Parts: sequence; structure tokens; C-alpha cells
Amino acid sequence: MIFVTGGAGFIGSNFILDWAAQRREPVLNIDALTYAGNAENLAAIAAAKDDGTYRFEQVDICDEAAVSALFATHRPRAILHFAAESHVDRSILGPAEFVRTNINGTFNLLQCALAYWKSLDADEAAAFRFLHVSTDEVYGSLGPDDAPFSETTPYAPNSPYSASKAASDHLVRAYFHTYGLPVLTTNCSNNYGPFQFPEKLIPLTITNALEGEPLPIYGDGKNVRDWLFVGDHCSAIALVLEKGRPGEVYNVGGMNERTNLEVVHTLCATLDALRPKPSGKYADQITYVKDRPGHDRRYAIDATKLTTELGWKPAENFETGMDRTVRWYLDNQPWVAHVKDGSYRHWIERQYADRGGADDATVEVLEGHPT
Ligand code: NAD
Ligand code: DAU
Repeated sequence: MIFVTGGAGFIGSNFILDWAAQRREPVLNIDALTYAGNAENLAAIAAAKDDGTYRFEQVDICDEAAVSALFATHRPRAILHFAAESHVDRSILGPAEFVRTNINGTFNLLQCALAYWKSLDADEAAAFRFLHVSTDEVYGSLGPDDAPFSETTPYAPNSPYSASKAASDHLVRAYFHTYGLPVLTTNCSNNYGPFQFPEKLIPLTITNALEGEPLPIYGDGKNVRDWLFVGDHCSAIALVLEKGRPGEVYNVGGMNERTNLEVVHTLCATLDALRPKPSGKYADQITYVKDRPGHDRRYAIDATKLTTELGWKPAENFETGMDRTVRWYLDNQPWVAHVKDGSYRHWIERQYADRGGADDATVEVLEGHPT
């Protein structure tokens, strides 16, 4: 069996659904079900898999006794570590939880995995893997003409989120060099697709557009991200698990650099085609708001190592992935309604209150703005 931490979140749930569709190897999902964890993402598999190939344990990754007990009971051949506090804006308003989960939680998992790994026989120990899912944000911010991030780019995190992920990456690396624990690390660019919590740019834009709400653009909207469809990230992780060399880092990226304005305009145009408004265009809802502090200007990933050494290739390009994503949100309105409950609305009020909303005189409302 494999362990997946954070399997009720956006990428973890996509990973488990893809894994279960392709193989019979059992998965144990370890998730604390924070605001970002949603058991509903896995409802289909939980109902269909009554043969024990999917199990869920509501456990905090910082809980040493509970995590150790899971290792002892289930004896996994690998742990895939997705669980994290993952939203940059939340890390600015409340960094403590990021330090706790991303640093202390990863440390606890490494300690538990190490103790378990030492108890394995030689063949099992050689086959065991600890795969740590990380982010391109640890590398900091690129200028317009800089080369994309490679696995050897020096770390330069700029937000409490990326600093906490950087710290976790360093711990993972140290457990390989110091103790020989067979670890793998992946650093991926921005994901999008089904089941993404609507506080991140793409689902926020789609759901706000449909509700007639403002579409907030931080700063000038020209920050660049390298967008990757979530299914392609999941296929990369599965490949690294099978073929990656212990101790190595693999960058995962979409080769789809877009400004935030380009992304939002693409979403608006797709919605105009699929669900036209009675009057006007969705882009009329675009609203400029105060910038994110420490906002990284550009991310871009060089995934050459993954493509050449392991043969990974993304299945979606930006246009097909965005189309799939918009259609998924249109077809899954009950999921959106359940996710946008009281706690989420409270976050949105806090997050955008001092940025200037659509009614604020300081806000420039887009009309014919160049993309
Ligand atoms: P997410 O916020 O959607 O999900 C995180 C999951 O972790 C949730 O199910 C949550 O309940 C769980 N969790 C949080 N704290 C926990 C704790 N203490 N114990 C147990 N479970 C806990 O995140 P995501 O977008 O799916 O990201 C998954 C991983 O991928 C993260 O490590 C993130 O840093 C990394 N990553 C994300 C992206 C992206 O674009 N979303 C890109 C690159 C890397
Ligand atoms: O690069 C990988 C990272 O991508 C992951 O490690 C993080 O977990 C994930 O959340 C994501 O981080 P970003 O900060 O890039 O994602 P977010 O969707 O929050 O923002 C994307 C861009 O859009 C960013 O430049 C900020 C901007 N933005 C975001 C929001 C929520 C806006 O302009 N308006 C908004 O309302």
C-alpha cells in the first residue's frame, strides 16, 4: 500500500482518483480535514471501493503517536506527502499554521518514516520511498528575461508559505544525506483543474464570474505563472515514485507561462462561450485591487530533467486544460456551493476588505484593458 498525506485537498484528491482508476494498489489517505480538505472530493471512490483499496484516516501529520501507529499497522511501501497549508495569502495573514504543518508536520513525518524504514528488511528498505511534493515558489522570483528555474537554482523564498516549504525541502534533503532515507522531491509550478478550492486565482475567477462578483486582479495583473493541469502533475508524481532516483529533485512545469490578466481573460472568454451572460461580458467584472505584499513577479520551470530522464510529457496544453476546468466547475455547481460555506465567506471578507473592493474609489475597473 501507499500513504498519501493531504489526499482530501486539491492535488491529493486528484492524485488518489487517478491512482485508483489506473491501479489496484491500496491507498491510505491521511488528512486532518482543514478548511482546504474536502472528503466530498473522494466520495465517488469511497463509495465504489468497498474492497479496502481506499481508506481514510483523519489524522494531523504533526501527531507523532497517530502517524507512527499508521506506519506500524499498514506497513506502506511509500509515502507521498502532499499535506500542507498551501495558500500564499493566508500565509501572509497567519503564518503560524504554515510553520506548524509545513515544517513541523514534515519533520514529524520524516521521523516516523525513518523509524519505520529502519525496521524493514533489506529488500523492503531498498524499495521504500518518501516522496515530498513541493513548489517552484521556493526558488523566488524571476525577471522577464531570466532562465526558468532548474533543480540547481538557489532557494530564495519570499512569502511565509514558500519559506515554510523551503524549510521542509531542506529537511527532506537532510534525511537522505544524513540517514539514507530514500527520499524524492518534486517542485511544481501552479496547478489548476477540478476540485481546486476557490480562494486560488482560477477557481475564484470562475466562481465569482458566475455569481456576478468582482474578479480581483492584484497590482497590474502582469505577474507571470507557469500553469500546469493537475492531472499532469499527478502523472509526474507517479512517474517520479516509480522511476526517480532517491535523493534527487525533479522540477515539474507546464511550459505555459501566462500573465494573470491573460489567465483571467481566457477564463472570461471561455465562460462567454459556454454560459453567456444576459448582457455584457464576464471581463466587465475584472477589478484591480491592492497588490499582494512580496508578490513574486514571475515563475517558470525548466522540466528538462523530468522529461529527458524519466520520459514525462503533459497530456494537456493551456487551452485544453482551461476548457476542461471551466466545464468541470460549470458541471459541479453543488460542489462549489458546499465549499463556499460560512468559513470560506469569512475568509474572503477578511482577505479583500483592505484591498479595495468593487465599490472602493481607489479601484480601477477594467474596460478595454490591454492583456
Ligand atoms: P490544498 O490546500 O488544496 O490541500 C492541502 C491538504 O492538506 C488539505 O486536504 C488539508 O486538509 C491537508 N492538511 C493541511 N494541514 C494538515 C495537517 N496538519 N495534517 C494533515 N493534513 C493536513 O493544497 P494543494 O493545492 O492540493 O497542494 C498540495 C501540495 O502540493 C502542497 O504541499 C503544496 O505546497 C504543493 N503544491 C501545490 C501547487 C498548487 O498550485 N496548488 C503547486 C505546487 C506544489
Ligand atoms: O507556484 C506554485 C504555487 O502556486 C503553489 O505552491 C501554491 O500552493 C499555489 O497556491 C500557487 O500559488 P500562487 O500564489 O501563485 O497562486 P494563487 O492562485 O493564489 O495566485 C496566482 C496569481 O494570481 C498570483 O500572481 C496572485 C494572483 N491573484 C490571486 C488571487 C487569489 C490575483 O491577482 N487575484 C486574486 O484574487
